[in-house]
Amino acid sequence: MGKFQVLDHPLIQHKLTIIRNKNCGTRSFREVVNEISTLMAYEVSRDMPLQDKVIETPVAKMTAKELAGKKVAIVPILRAGIGMVDGILELIPAAKVGHIGMYRDEETLQPHEYFVKLPSDIDQRQVFVVDPMLATGGSAIMAIDALKKRGASNIKFVCLVSAPEGVKALRAKHPDVDIYTAALDDHLNEDGYIVPGLGDAGDRLFGTK
Ligand code: PRP
Ligand code: URA
Repeated sequence: MGKFQVLDHPLIQHKLTIIRNKNCGTRSFREVVNEISTLMAYEVSRDMPLQDKVIETPVAKMTAKELAGKKVAIVPILRAGIGMVDGILELIPAAKVGHIGMYRDEETLQPHEYFVKLPSDIDQRQVFVVDPMLATGGSAIMAIDALKKRGASNIKFVCLVSAPEGVKALRAKHPDVDIYTAALDDHLNEDGYIVPGLGDAGDRLFGTK
């Protein structure tokens, strides 16, 4: 079974409170989502493999460590996942970025896929799927289905706020996928929104409501 980790570092919790607040405007929301994503990337990349490298410091020769060249792909689920990409690229600038377009029918809460564009060597990359919200889990499950269908096997899912219902569904459907979240909230309401949550992440990021 993959990991389930709540990344509750004080800086992450502080910044999450800023964006949960309904008075946080689009500009601050975007900036702070970016900052939280950078902080989360630090933890999510913790098990990246290292290899030895012999170098010379000004004082002596030594065997030091460097990343073992495991290639990374960041795959945001559109739209809201886009808000997390730049923050992760701050730490992993060589990552490639794929996109999966997914929207949730507001009545049925069922996800619909409308776009998939991935790096051609996705099967050889460590994939970070990013989306601020894991609610019913439908969008994450379908996005990961789409990735696995194209050969990806090494997948981590990174979100800001999750609901117990979504975590359970995602772990049942994709037990191999590690899940990292900044908060595990209480429940989903009858409209499929996370409570207390932060509202509609896409609308808050892009100012569309
Ligand atoms: C939101 C969010 C997730 C999805 C989560 O996207 O960004 O992708 O809902 O809900 P689920 O776990 O129940 O599937 P939305 O469909 O509102 O699209 P948007 O990002 O374009 O606003
Ligand atoms: N999508 C969102 O953007 N917010 C929620 O609370 C649930 C799904």
